[in-house]
Amino acid sequence: MGRPESETGGRKVVDVIPTLQTLKAQDVAGRTAVVVDILRATSTIVTALAAGAREIRPAVSPREARARYLRLEAALGGRDGLLLGGERFGLRIEGFDLGNSPLEYTPERVAGKTIVFSTTNGTRTLRRAAGRRSEPSGAAARVLVASFLNATAVAERLADLGGDVVVACAGTRGGFSLEDILMAGLLVDYLQRRARDGEDLIFRDLARAAAALYRAMAGESGENLARAIVSADHARYLSSLGFGADVARCATCDLTDIVPEYRAGRVTVPGRVTVSGRVTVSGRVTAPGPGRRGSGS
Ligand code: MLT
Repeated sequence: MGRPESETGGRKVVDVIPTLQTLKAQDVAGRTAVVVDILRATSTIVTALAAGAREIRPAVSPREARARYLRLEAALGGRDGLLLGGERFGLRIEGFDLGNSPLEYTPERVAGKTIVFSTTNGTRTLRRAAGRRSEPSGAAARVLVASFLNATAVAERLADLGGDVVVACAGTRGGFSLEDILMAGLLVDYLQRRARDGEDLIFRDLARAAAALYRAMAGESGENLARAIVSADHARYLSSLGFGADVARCATCDLTDIVPEYRAGRVTVPGRVTVSGRVTVSGRVTAPGPGRRGSGS
């Protein structure tokens, strides 16, 4: 969906939306939506699931997060398997167990847990990207969660899926975020290279611009990526709060091959079964190691 078929000639479309505020229902309807909030929400979600968290339940506000947590607590008869995480102004929300630092989401802390999670832009982008079946234009076909930490796995999944793709960037406080557009550019660059093997895709203007920016700033094999991210506005804000190590972590590529998916209110790793904190079936959990692209270290 998105644009009328007459305009695209039935060809598949790859698009990028720069901010949460510019993301509309018709942008995602019927498409694969990829949500990106590099600093730091989607990097933290990917980290938590790679560390063995059972699922993430995104909430749009701290109030909604607390209410969902209490409902889950009542349903489960206790809070053992539950955590409440998230930030406002970059800082942990008062009374929450965890903030929005990927470094907090260790296997020791999160394995086997359901995490109710609320961040300023990232979790709202996830919710909006899913769309609503009740809307005339319909919902996204699927919603994937991307960060540099699982970049190649997401790019490969998109290429294998085929079909229309929209990369939904969260941005920061209503504005464009360099790190999100670079991530979008990495994905588009990958799809452009794969499309040369035959598939006839239409790359929209911002998709082409994002790929060109990624190639210009990150370099041929991503060697300058971390430097570009560290220089971004939100990275400098986070560093001023003492979260410089988070920025470096979020700028590191390919620490895991999981591709989280948001469906029916939960972000999970499809096909993976978590029992008592141990990941038991598929959805390999990998320990941090050298990235396949640029490294933030
Ligand atoms: C957000 O969702 O706006 C961000 O993840 C903010 C942050 O860096 O904590």
